[in-house]
Amino acid sequence: MPETIILAIESSCDDTSAAICIDGKIVSNLTANQKVHELYGGVVPELASREHTKNIIPVVAEAIKKANITTKDISAVAFTRGPGLMGSLLVGGMFAKSFAQALHVPLIDVHHMQAHVLAHFIDEPKPTFPFLCLTVSGGHTQIVLVKDYLEMEVIGATIDDAAGEAFDKTAKMLKLPYPGGPLIDKYAQLGNPKRFKFSEPQIENLDFSFSGFKTNVLYFLQKEIKNNPTFIDDNLNDICASVQHTIVSILMKKLKKAAEQTDIKEIAIAGGVSANSGLRQALLQSGEKYNWNTYIPQFQYCTDNAGMIAITAYHKYLQNKFCDIDIPILARMSM
Ligand code: KG4
Ligand code: ZN
Repeated sequence: MPETIILAIESSCDDTSAAICIDGKIVSNLTANQKVHELYGGVVPELASREHTKNIIPVVAEAIKKANITTKDISAVAFTRGPGLMGSLLVGGMFAKSFAQALHVPLIDVHHMQAHVLAHFIDEPKPTFPFLCLTVSGGHTQIVLVKDYLEMEVIGATIDDAAGEAFDKTAKMLKLPYPGGPLIDKYAQLGNPKRFKFSEPQIENLDFSFSGFKTNVLYFLQKEIKNNPTFIDDNLNDICASVQHTIVSILMKKLKKAAEQTDIKEIAIAGGVSANSGLRQALLQSGEKYNWNTYIPQFQYCTDNAGMIAITAYHKYLQNKFCDIDIPILARMSM
């Protein structure tokens, strides 16, 4: 049987990524990160689009080269349809559409958040259905009930900020560069997580909220800086450890509640924030305590990457789920 070779492209935010998947195996996964946003403390959409246009051809060429294939071998081209920044999505989407048409191969549209979940099917061990996936990124915080590869239901979501945003915005208050999540993680490893107490929301259902926590950190810092102008520098590790501890606690309490309500013990985490060492550790500890089978993707498949787009596209390919060339790109898109 001929091999199924998929070229996948991800460009929903500030990473330009291309991957090649051969019969369900990711053989190359390359990402160009955009450093330009560090200066501005957040992603500047217009700059992100411009960087994507610069990066996309070299990244795709390198992914093809690294996979040791030629463009003639490609069976289908996949791309992130949404959600994300419109300009960024358009660069990857239009590139994929043109490429598929030039090669006379089918086109596959992929939902970015579904792809974060299906990153669990790149490597072993793979979860069994049904499983719960806490999907935590810069733009989303969701508990997803995953019934099958392409059948998912969001059973809890944030009503305001995403967990990644909570990390990045508190990092900004601490004068750390964007994206601050990984830096909070780094300093937190040296600090005392119980030193400062921050507020957690009281929400009955499976939804999340981070705005009260964020305001609490802001007022706390303002008060402390009034007494000691070097408060942040003097206590950075403990502040980061306490911030991380609170965000992880908010996430884990809801995940535990979801596991109890659904009686599911296959528990996964995905998305950029699943790279966080505190969250990874908390999931493993809960796994032991509650007898869960836990799943954490490799670091390269936690943050935005085309490998996860490719594996999702592979499962769509197996089910003959292709799209038309005129399919619209969507900045907002439900699961
Ligand atoms: O999934 P992702 O790469 O992009 C989106 O789809 O949003 O997630 C990016 C988010 C950012 O908010 C970033 O700060 C956060 O993931 N992040 C982390 C860590 N690594 C990435 N947050 C906390 N700890 C980390 N180690
Ligand atoms: Zn993402």
